[in-house]
Formats: sequence, C-alpha cells, structure tokens
Amino acid sequence: MNSARTLLPNSLQEQAYRLRWERLKRQIAPDWIDQVRFVDPDGVGITPHVKQSRFIDSPAKRKIIRAGRRGGKTTGMAIYAVSEFKRGLRVLYTAPTQDQVDAFWEWVKLFLAQPLKNNALYKNETRHIIEVEGTKNRIRAKTAWDADSLRGDYADLLIFDEYQLTNEEAWGRVGAPMLADNDGDAVFIYTPPSLHSRSRSKARDPRHAATLFKKAQQDKTGRCEPFHFSSHDIPPISVIAREDLTDDMTALAYEQEILALDKDEAPGALWTRDLIERQRVREMPTDFIRIAVGVDPPGGVKTECGIIVSGLRRSDRKVYVIADYSLAGTPGEWASAVIKAYDIHKANYVVAETNFGGKMVESTLRAVPGGNRVTIKEVHASRGKAIRAEPCAAKYEKNQAHHVGKFLHLEDEMVNWEPNQGMLSPNRLDALVWSMTAVGGRGKGAGNARRA
Ligand SMILES: Nc1ncnc2c1ncn2[C@@H]1O[C@H](COP(=O)(O)OP(=O)(O)OP(=O)(O)O)[C@@H](O)[C@H]1O
Ligand SMILES: [Mg+2]
Repeated sequence: MNSARTLLPNSLQEQAYRLRWERLKRQIAPDWIDQVRFVDPDGVGITPHVKQSRFIDSPAKRKIIRAGRRGGKTTGMAIYAVSEFKRGLRVLYTAPTQDQVDAFWEWVKLFLAQPLKNNALYKNETRHIIEVEGTKNRIRAKTAWDADSLRGDYADLLIFDEYQLTNEEAWGRVGAPMLADNDGDAVFIYTPPSLHSRSRSKARDPRHAATLFKKAQQDKTGRCEPFHFSSHDIPPISVIAREDLTDDMTALAYEQEILALDKDEAPGALWTRDLIERQRVREMPTDFIRIAVGVDPPGGVKTECGIIVSGLRRSDRKVYVIADYSLAGTPGEWASAVIKAYDIHKANYVVAETNFGGKMVESTLRAVPGGNRVTIKEVHASRGKAIRAEPCAAKYEKNQAHHVGKFLHLEDEMVNWEPNQGMLSPNRLDALVWSMTAVGGRGKGAGNARRA
C-alpha cells in the first residue's frame, strides 16, 4: 500500500519539504540570541544603572516611570525591549517625536548588530521593524502621539516614551485593547513637563502622566508599579552636557525636568488651582456686553498661538473666560482658528499683540477667508508681563472673573508661571490677559487695550 506521503499531490509534497528544510536551517544556524551585545557605539559594554534595572526586572504588568531629562529613559527602554524580544515577545515602542524614535532605534540596532550582520534577523529600516523571520517575534519602533497614530499594530509589550506629550487616548482607546487579548505589559515613561516643554504636548490633560503615576503609587495589587529617578541617577554624563541642559532653567523647571518631581503648581504663581476652581461656573452666560478674542502669536510653528475668548457680562459686570482655541500650527492655521473663534462667539474684536511681528498679526489674519471682516485691536506689550497679568489675577480673587468649564492647558500655565522668576510668560496666559483686559469690567485693568 502507498504511504500517505506519496499520495500527496506534488505541490504539497514540495511545501512539506520546504517547511522541513526551513526548520532544519533554523536548528543549524547559530543562535542569534547568543549574539546580542549590550554595548555603546564605541563597543564598550553597557549595563543598566540601578534605577534602570529596577524597572527592567520588575514583574509588574504596568510600569509607570517618572524620570529626569537625560536620565537614561530611552537607553533603558532599548535594553528592556531587546531583552523581551530575546524572550520571544512582540515589542512595540512608541514616542511622539521622530527624534526619540530614532534614538531608541539606534540603540536597538547596535545591540542586535551581530545577528543582523549574520542575517539571523530580518530588518525593515523604513518601518523600523526587526523580526525573527516567519514569526511574530519582533521589535517595532513607531512615532505615535494619539489613538489614530497607534492603530493597526500588535504587541505583548507596549512602551510609551515621553508619555507626557502623548494624547492619553492612545492608551485608553488603542493601547489597552491591543494588550487585552494576550494580557500584555505596558510601560509609560515621562518627564514632568515644565512650561517650556509642555506647549508641544498632544495631551488633553497636561497632567495625565502625573495622574497615572499617582494611581500606580496607590496600587496595592502589585499589578502597577511606579518608578522614579532623576537626571543625577545616571552614571556621570559629561558635566558640560548637564550644564547645557540646565543653563536657562528656572528653579521650578529644574525640579520638574531634572529632579523629575511632579509639581502641581508653582509657589510664586499669580493663580492657584484652588482659586480657579472656586471661580469655576458651568453655565454659559448669554448676556454679554462685549466679547474679545485674545491672540498671542507664536514665535514659530512649534510654539503655540494663544487664542482665548472672554466676555464681559451685562447682569453682573464680571468677566467670563469662555473658550480656548490655542494651537501650534502654520500662520494660516492659527489665523483661521482666530476667525472661527470670532465668528462662533460673535466677538466684538480680536486683540493681538504686535511686539514681535509689527503688523504681522493683522496681515496674517486678513489673509485668511473671513479675515477682512474682523475688527482688530492691536496692543503693545510695552509694560512688564507681570504688571499686565496681576490685575487679571486680582479679578479672580475679588470674585470678578470666572471660567465657564475647564481649560486644562490654560489653567496649567496660569498656576505654573512665576512672574518673579524671569520666566517668559506662556502664550495661552498672554492671550488670556489680552482678552480679559480688552473686555474690561470692574476695577483695575479695564480698558488697557488700545486701538491701533
Ligand atoms: N546604563 C547606562 N550606562 C551608561 N550610559 C548610559 C546608560 N543609560 C543611558 N546612558 C547614556 O546617557 C545619555 C542619556 O540617555 P537617554 O537618551 O537614554 O536618556 P533620556 O532620559 O531618554 O534622555 P531625554 O530626556 O533626552 O529623552 C545617553 O548618552 C546614553 O548613552
Ligand atoms: Mg529619551
């Protein structure tokens, strides 16, 4: 009787033969795992520092790491990712900026240089993928800053680097479901953002990473674990590099970005969270006397244009902050956002600072559709920023200013700006001051905006 094998059609016989050959090839190939070397670009062995080892070795399913600038976050993650890849896992590393992804990717390629050279692993440089061919065992590095940019992938270990800049929906809407099937692990790494770094954030709540860290601190099950280290915990990096980093930092930024401490509010700020909270209302007034869109133009495309709308109410003559349209974008984009705010709220005027660009703001606004109809008041920031902001803060204290709903990013700026520390005032805050000053109201500060 014929064996089952000879009964197989030729094509299937061929397929079976090829499969056996592939399996055999894998068995005789030198094991790539033994060829992995944790070395720096000079070929010197690199071992995780104490704080890096702590999170690498932890068995927690959710690791939340708060660490200082240049503290070894990305390098630590590359060591961790390659170690997990060696164990056969599918690792997905994400960061909101290309620079961070590149830094991670260079480390990974360095650690896997030998197996890559021997063709024991497959690499796709464009897509930032290294994998054991024919399996799902892989490392992928990807730029992702929100739910949409994270979609369409899979992982057993999902890493969010610079999580403070990522939109929190990336985890809730895509990351968590991605790991649900196989009970995968997630790591969130962040540096508490100071005022100068938070403007690049895609987060809805600028404090979302700090909130996650707090939750991990309260966890009693061992599933979530918080880790903390400062920039000083790394083996001595060059002193010059560290000085470069801290040169123009305020004391507050130093505590946030170097010591990696979550600061809820700055001690010398004009506003406190409590003050803003007490002045919060939920209902939008309908009887405004006048409404102004305050605009603080950005220095470049990476910084935000502050766009804040406030109005003076007829019945109580108080100021209500009603909307925040601030964004980072091209002049055309922010100018369109200003016109949109002007139209939606039926504003009386746009108040914009002319300091840097002369007539730049007006010409930018006039250049976009609808820009010809708006009334523009130009103001000059001739007086110190603190002097202009103080009367606005005083209005909150005197129960003369309210927020209609929450403005997380604006409020974050308000409670973190310390005028006496020589900090540049942030853009949303400036736009708030322009708009509040322009609509006037009781007490000092009214009518400071002047017609151009
Ligand atoms: N365990 C280690 N041993 C020796 N050098 C290290 C180690 N970890 C990190 N470094 C070095 O420290 C520097 C900073 O590391 P890394 O880029 O990982 O920090 P980071 O916290 O991600 O920085 P950033 O805040 O800029 O994103 C790098 O030059 C890296 O080579
Ligand atoms: Mg990094």
